[in-house]
Amino acid sequence: MTKQTIADIDLQGKTVLLRVDYNVQFDDSGEILDDHRLKESIPTIRALQDKEARIVICSHRGRPNGEFVDELRNQPVAAHLSKLLGQEVNALDEAIGPEVKKAVTKLAGGEIVLLENVRFYEGEEANDPGFARELASLADVFVSDAFGTAHRAHASVVGVGFYLPAISGLLMQKELDYLSRVTESIERPFGIILGGGKVAEKLRILGHLADQADVICVGGGIANTFLQGQGIDVGDSLVEESRIDDALSLMRIASGRRDLKLVLPTDVVVSDSSGSTVSTVSVNRVPPGFRILDLGRQTVEDIREALKPMKTIVWNGPVGLFERSPFDTGSIEIARILADSVGATTVVGGGETAAAVSKAGVGGRLSHVSTGGGASLQMLEGINLPGVEVLLDSE
Ligand code: 3PG
Repeated sequence: MTKQTIADIDLQGKTVLLRVDYNVQFDDSGEILDDHRLKESIPTIRALQDKEARIVICSHRGRPNGEFVDELRNQPVAAHLSKLLGQEVNALDEAIGPEVKKAVTKLAGGEIVLLENVRFYEGEEANDPGFARELASLADVFVSDAFGTAHRAHASVVGVGFYLPAISGLLMQKELDYLSRVTESIERPFGIILGGGKVAEKLRILGHLADQADVICVGGGIANTFLQGQGIDVGDSLVEESRIDDALSLMRIASGRRDLKLVLPTDVVVSDSSGSTVSTVSVNRVPPGFRILDLGRQTVEDIREALKPMKTIVWNGPVGLFERSPFDTGSIEIARILADSVGATTVVGGGETAAAVSKAGVGGRLSHVSTGGGASLQMLEGINLPGVEVLLDSE
């Protein structure tokens, strides 16, 4: 999938509407919780500044449903971006209108403004042509780095592309490059690690990728459904009863393919409801009233062994309750296994999985940690993203 990018179009001195995904959160003291998405947008900003472009950044934050909500203003984002860039980024109080136009007209080459949260306007999520036209009227070219929002057919993601030449930024290009290495031209052997809670989502990924897979490792909440399907008593662990048949049919497919290895947990970390008793047990011995909250050490070793020969590895979904120690051990170990897989292309998708990688402190040793949650999931499921389709194809 190749889209025109900032190298393909004359941007010298132009005004650029740069759509990013700065949907980030701040703690009570005003500190940003995770600035991965901001940092990843910097190469595009710098490349635009090299062309002396005037940069009008736009993004949404949260789900304000078409109303101005003070806690979701973009001002703190602009303040953090200013720090990262070492340059003032002026946050505007609105996203469209005469005051915005005035501020944009005053920009010199290389200067940046950040528009107010586009989801404060009903026209954004409705993909209203009038709102899209207003946004587009601010610029000469539309550059999209908003991979994380590319699954939303909203005005600032898709609509503006009907009024301006629409091209991909460097982050968008990188996301498409790595994720299409997994979805379109996989270098095998190919390993998949799936965790998290939603069985249906993960089965859709497998529906798209399993034919190419050589190893499939299942952990996290979804593994309980697979284990219960095998007749294993998983105690009080969450199970998606309605998906047991789907899990069983996947296991039948796997056992019918001699070249496909399916790794399910053989030992697990369990805890009682109070969280005071924690132990590692065989999957066949989950005590009544206990819940499975992480992979056991032996299962992690089985995964390490199974993934050793892989040339491509994709990971989506934590393999345990990674937000709470000690149930983060399995996910941290999986992140390290990927980091140690020298010579393999390692791709991580999904907000929680990216957070687990950052907790393990190995983000820089993976090939690609996607900035997209829902968007990377949809791409792994083989669904086209409207925010990508709107971009001009490269010739
Ligand atoms: C995300 O954080 O996944 C994106 O910004 C999309 O946000 P949304 O789910 O509110 O559309």
